[in-house]
Amino acid sequence: MALPEYFQFQDRTKVIYGQGTLSSVGEEAKLAGGAKALIVTDKIISKLGYAETVANSLRDAGIEVVMTYDDVPQDSSATMIQTLYEDVKKLGGADICVAIGGGSVLDTTKMVNLLLSEGGDLLDDHQGAYLQEKPLNPMVAIPTTAGTGSEVTFAAVIKDTEQHQKISFISPFFAPNTAILDPDVTLSMPPGITAGTGMDALTHAIEALHSATSEPVSDALALGAIRMINEFLPVAVKDGKNVEARGQMLIASTIAGIAFTNSMVGVVHAIAHSIGGIAGVPHGLANSLMLPWCMEFNLEYCTDKYAQSAYAMGVIPTGDPAADAETGIAKVRELISKTGLPTRLRDVGVTEEQFEDIAMTTMGDGSLFTNPRTVEDHIEIIELLKKAF
Ligand SMILES: [Fe+2]
Repeated sequence: MALPEYFQFQDRTKVIYGQGTLSSVGEEAKLAGGAKALIVTDKIISKLGYAETVANSLRDAGIEVVMTYDDVPQDSSATMIQTLYEDVKKLGGADICVAIGGGSVLDTTKMVNLLLSEGGDLLDDHQGAYLQEKPLNPMVAIPTTAGTGSEVTFAAVIKDTEQHQKISFISPFFAPNTAILDPDVTLSMPPGITAGTGMDALTHAIEALHSATSEPVSDALALGAIRMINEFLPVAVKDGKNVEARGQMLIASTIAGIAFTNSMVGVVHAIAHSIGGIAGVPHGLANSLMLPWCMEFNLEYCTDKYAQSAYAMGVIPTGDPAADAETGIAKVRELISKTGLPTRLRDVGVTEEQFEDIAMTTMGDGSLFTNPRTVEDHIEIIELLKKAF
């Protein structure tokens, strides 16, 4: 594969892996430079006792816990984030944020941390990409799902409840300082969430690979993640208590996160964002439903990349990369069927009446810019939706 003439790659996050590393959060927060912490999580994680473990570890390290907020919904809104910021400010503020949860918790925390560091109104003052010019207060992220990669990415996706759209905020300074990958905190994730978030990670890796702005560093990471996900996602779905499979998926998800936050994504994510905003389909599942169809749509424009992806999934090279790439798409379908996820939009409540709205919203999504094949108009998106219906 030819080298790009020029590229940049960066990773701003210290990554720690190991069973039981959750209890090192206090020491890590101290190293990152915090003295007053806001803990952000959701009800499920709070009930499992993990937020308490985090609070105790922080206090043991001499860090004051200003507040533990445990009410983050599946899709956070700007209003919720603004309110949380105002509430913490009334308590004297916090100089470090610790997030423990899935993608929504991590993204919410990134945006609360932005407000605690810079002040202002999230939508009026901070909406956009690459606006941030200096580091924010430190943040520690502990993912409890293996998929979003938010523990290392530069982005936060927030729901605009009035426009029924997902809004992306992007800056390298949003990446957490430290990511703690403790497989123990993912052991109780149910099979459906394991499958959906795992397919989000696979989509990140494949889209990083086929991206128009891909480069060799993120390609290598993406291929490594594809290999791990293909082998271990079915195991993690089938046997949630398998620590090896959980660990492999956590690491694969983080690796894919580092890859796509550098390379960006493409048409699969563009459509998934719209399906999420308009039909309420969870992000990973939306990606999984669209991935094989979008790969077919892109096939001629990134044959070599899809052949590489196929080899990472165990396809034996035949000497014909185009044929191998097609076999690779079949392998993706095979993996989806092993996860037991629905494979049709009609099965998850998407209606044909929503196609026009989904397609028009997709045409405005920034992820389209880096898709390997230019999407000419919204009719092409409708055709893809019909195939996936
Ligand atoms: Fe994603």
